[in-house]
Amino acid sequence: MAVERTLSILKPDATRRNLTGKINAKFEEAGLRIVAQKRLHLSEAQAGAFYAVHKERPFYKDLVAFMTSGPVVAQVLEGENAVAKNREIMGATNPANAAPGTIRKEFAESIEANSVHGSDSAENAATEVAFFFSGIEIVG
Ligand code: PPS
Repeated sequence: MAVERTLSILKPDATRRNLTGKINAKFEEAGLRIVAQKRLHLSEAQAGAFYAVHKERPFYKDLVAFMTSGPVVAQVLEGENAVAKNREIMGATNPANAAPGTIRKEFAESIEANSVHGSDSAENAATEVAFFFSGIEIVG
């Protein structure tokens, strides 16, 4: 299986509750390596651009407001099948539907404050990684 990279974001509800270490442990226990990581407070323009694909959806404004409500941690995760593996570790978008043991089941507060973002395809991962990181900042 191919070694991939995926973009992960620890959302403001996770940084507010000091959960970054516990969430990172989940990634590392599953064999994903954190090969880049930085803490940021996104501006409205930055969050709006990152989530531009959802611009027409009813929750877009709320999503941007939430993602700018506090610091986030952007990270690049690397490993075999990293995109799908990370989605599995995160669990379903709505924590009410997330499987036991997943990050969202254990930590998410709601469908909005759901602790983590993860790229949904290898193609989007490449775009999303480049949104936050330059090549020199990723150390595999
Ligand atoms: S998915 O898996 O990306 O297709 O999930 P989707 O349901 O399309 O949701 C996309 C992102 O929007 C967030 N979301 C919401 N935010 C606020 N309010 C509501 N109601 C809501 N519904 C979905 C969801 O957490 C996804 O965020 P990311 O950061 O992409 O995981």
